[in-house]
Amino acid sequence: MPGLKNTDPQVLAIYGSPRKEGVTSFIQESILEQLGLPVRVYKKYVYDENINPCVACGYCKQHFGCIYNDSMTEIYDLLITSNLVLITSPLYFSNITGPLKLLVDRCQVIWERQLRGEKSSIYQRGFFSAAGAGSYSNMFVPSVITIRHLFNTAGLIYNEDEYVLLDSSPPVLNLPQHPLMKKVKSAAAVLTRDLKQHCL
Ligand SMILES: Cc1cc2nc3c(=O)[nH]c(=O)nc-3n(C[C@H](O)[C@H](O)[C@H](O)COP(=O)(O)O)c2cc1C
Repeated sequence: MPGLKNTDPQVLAIYGSPRKEGVTSFIQESILEQLGLPVRVYKKYVYDENINPCVACGYCKQHFGCIYNDSMTEIYDLLITSNLVLITSPLYFSNITGPLKLLVDRCQVIWERQLRGEKSSIYQRGFFSAAGAGSYSNMFVPSVITIRHLFNTAGLIYNEDEYVLLDSSPPVLNLPQHPLMKKVKSAAAVLTRDLKQHCL
């Protein structure tokens, strides 16, 4: 990446929507743009990736890897070497989208790795954003729990109070002017502070 140093913090940005110009992609781009330090960003759009479903074969109980040599081979490496993992997803039936759930399930490899006592020695931070077109009680709970499970498995530090979770109240008429964009700004500031404190 031109102009960037190998020592600059590494960011993995995972996009759970098929819509690259959609709501959740906009939120995640806004966070990336507002990070106040140079970072090396790797973007993964799950709908562009080839991710097989976990078949519970047990291979990863003994090996850091999977029987499948698909997009997850690179994503495992990025997950264990990134200082910040940003994940965004629309709600589909009140949870993250199917291809993103395939990615999460394949992180059984990372679960087994940490059971063996192997973990990353670097600072690793997680952050989640999501959007739904409805507005109903507890609508983000399933997705937040799923991502909590992933971040805990991968040993990432996170604060769910900081998450940007966009519902339709108030209606989303002009996204850049939406009140929740203030939360995007404060989230980016907190992530910047933590990366500067732990990675520079
Ligand atoms: C298959 C499908 C299922 C959806 N399920 C929900 C849902 O359960 N709850 C909700 O609030 N919105 C639901 N939506 C709406 C999307 O979550 C919403 O439009 C979101 O803002 C889209 O984000 P994107 O523009 O980043 O793709 C669904 C949309 C689709 C296509």
